[in-house]
Amino acid sequence: MGIIKKFRITEFKEDRPKILLKDISLSFNKRQILENINLTLRQGEICGLLGPNGVGKSSLFNIIIGSIKPDYGKVFINKMEVTNIPIFERALRFGVAIVPQTGGVFSDLSCFENLKAIGEIVIKDSNERSFQIEKMIAKFELDAVKNVKAKHMSGGQRKRLAISLALLSNPKVVLMDEPFQGLDLLACRNLQETIVNLQTENNERLILVSDHAARDLLAICDRAIILANKKIIKAGTVNEVLNDEISKNLYFGDSFKIN
Ligand SMILES: Nc1ncnc2c1ncn2[C@@H]1O[C@H](COP(=O)(O)OP(=O)(O)O)[C@@H](O)[C@H]1O
Ligand SMILES: [Mg+2]
Repeated sequence: MGIIKKFRITEFKEDRPKILLKDISLSFNKRQILENINLTLRQGEICGLLGPNGVGKSSLFNIIIGSIKPDYGKVFINKMEVTNIPIFERALRFGVAIVPQTGGVFSDLSCFENLKAIGEIVIKDSNERSFQIEKMIAKFELDAVKNVKAKHMSGGQRKRLAISLALLSNPKVVLMDEPFQGLDLLACRNLQETIVNLQTENNERLILVSDHAARDLLAICDRAIILANKKIIKAGTVNEVLNDEISKNLYFGDSFKIN
């Protein structure tokens, strides 16, 4: 595999926290899913959220965007508490966007119609809207499927469309929930490049990406967080996480390597 990410951010200034989770706990039907989660996500980083299926990654994403409320704990964006601020306001005021684990597109609309539908909501000026839509089509190589319904597109094309919809509002925080799931090797490689480009084109942007299998994601992360048994068992640089004994025991296993 060639080099996808030329450099990693290895030092972070502590004054660049973008999202802070403080003592977050969550239960569904009296079953505890997340317990006492404390986490800082920094401006400009690509951070990987790793953990086995069912551990609570999507739930954590939902808590950050505001589609579910934790039983306990607080969420901060730009040092402001947003725990009680609704999802649309987090999107508008703080520029939080999500590419959900599944869906994220209107299946019965064409690629262009999808972009137009969201564009109408998030970009007021019609000339600017048309410009941004065409930019997304070119950037994500969707020209060939511009008039194809989303349900007839390939998995990789649909994922690129879902990402372009999330990016139309030029978000400051991009959350991607298991974007590598179900992609073939080439689509996977393209998505890795896309994510790194999202960071390069705006070095203020925070990108949080989850995955249950670490290989595709760790290659592009600055930092990673391992979620297991309801808790964050390790957060650190990719090397720190890979060399962590507890993470090896509970998540990676002994023989895991990224290259
Ligand atoms: N709305 C819900 N009601 C009840 N249980 C849920 C709900 N959403 C998720 N769960 C459960 O919570 C756990 C964590 O789910 P999820 O956050 O989707 O994990 P992950 O994304 O890591 O696979 C799972 O056991 C899942 O079945
Ligand atoms: Mg999930």
